[in-house]
Amino acid sequence: MINHLTLIQPDDWHVHLRDDAALITTVPAAARYFGRSIVMPNLKTPVRTVNDALLYRQRILQHRPKDSHWLPLMVLYLTDDTTKEDISAAKKSGFVQAMKYYPAGATTNSASGVTKLERLDPIFEKMQELDLILQMHGEVNDENTDIFDREAVFIDRHLRRIKEKFPELKIVLEHITTEQAAQYVEESDRYLAATITPQHLLYNRNHMFAGGIRPHLYCLPILKRDTHQKALIKASTSGSRKFFLGTDSAPHELETKESACGCAGCFSHHAALEFYAEVFDQVNAMHHLEAFASINGAEFYHLPLNQSKITLVREPWTIPDEIPFCGGKLIPLAAGMNINWKVKLP
Ligand code: NCD
Ligand code: ZN
Repeated sequence: MINHLTLIQPDDWHVHLRDDAALITTVPAAARYFGRSIVMPNLKTPVRTVNDALLYRQRILQHRPKDSHWLPLMVLYLTDDTTKEDISAAKKSGFVQAMKYYPAGATTNSASGVTKLERLDPIFEKMQELDLILQMHGEVNDENTDIFDREAVFIDRHLRRIKEKFPELKIVLEHITTEQAAQYVEESDRYLAATITPQHLLYNRNHMFAGGIRPHLYCLPILKRDTHQKALIKASTSGSRKFFLGTDSAPHELETKESACGCAGCFSHHAALEFYAEVFDQVNAMHHLEAFASINGAEFYHLPLNQSKITLVREPWTIPDEIPFCGGKLIPLAAGMNINWKVKLP
């Protein structure tokens, strides 16, 4: 039995830090042991321009703990009005790592998202030319498609076409949730990769309705049936270079989740790496955790690996029931659950 594991310091390739008072919680949580975090741009007013990202980055860094070297990696939000000039400016900035596609209305703060994907073709062409990464929230958002099918339909309806038309555009399919996505990414070329969240590895849709409705497990793309959960566990723990850690940690205050129309998102930064360790350990794949958490993402983004190392130890502890957030509180992922792994900080 493995009782400890030392690995290259990991990165988080998908996180929602929010803004203002939320940064007091989210930034130190992100900086606790990750080297870098890809910061999603879906603020209430989205991060659309290089200047928006510059200012947001400064606000984030004000909350970075003093001795920390953690870095926020910035992303711009694609809209119907994004221009080729925006793409050139993003590339030139040196600190914008990617552009994020949200289908309009598909998820939290996506009202300004793209209404017709085909219209972005000239933008994708420019991104391909300049080698700027496209991150996709891979779901269709039409009323006629069942919520559980939205990712698989997105792949067939849109992603295949985009891959054919822009074969050298680097794409990250974010927070994949289905067997179809895992298989499509695995079989595709080196220009396509995917992030996988802890909630989609730990849970399936039954957990969302176990004994009643569980709003704190409601995230988008929504949890799927257990066969998909199994396929995601297999993909992430396989050692494949195409999958990497992206927590999608997305805090919401308790009242906004426990409501007649609760919003989507799970907060996982209280135990992010520990959750993944739990899953990898269960399938005897701890030896593949370093690739998934610390190597594959950096290689896809063409960034150097982190220099330092961190150690995970087998040391049972209990996830807290709640975490203070924005003057109120939030319920963290797996609240009250016992977990076997803990990151040992120096
Ligand atoms: C995210 C959020 O709350 O910002 N919610 C979620 O369910 N994942 C948005 C997103 O990543 O889709
Ligand atoms: Zn997200």
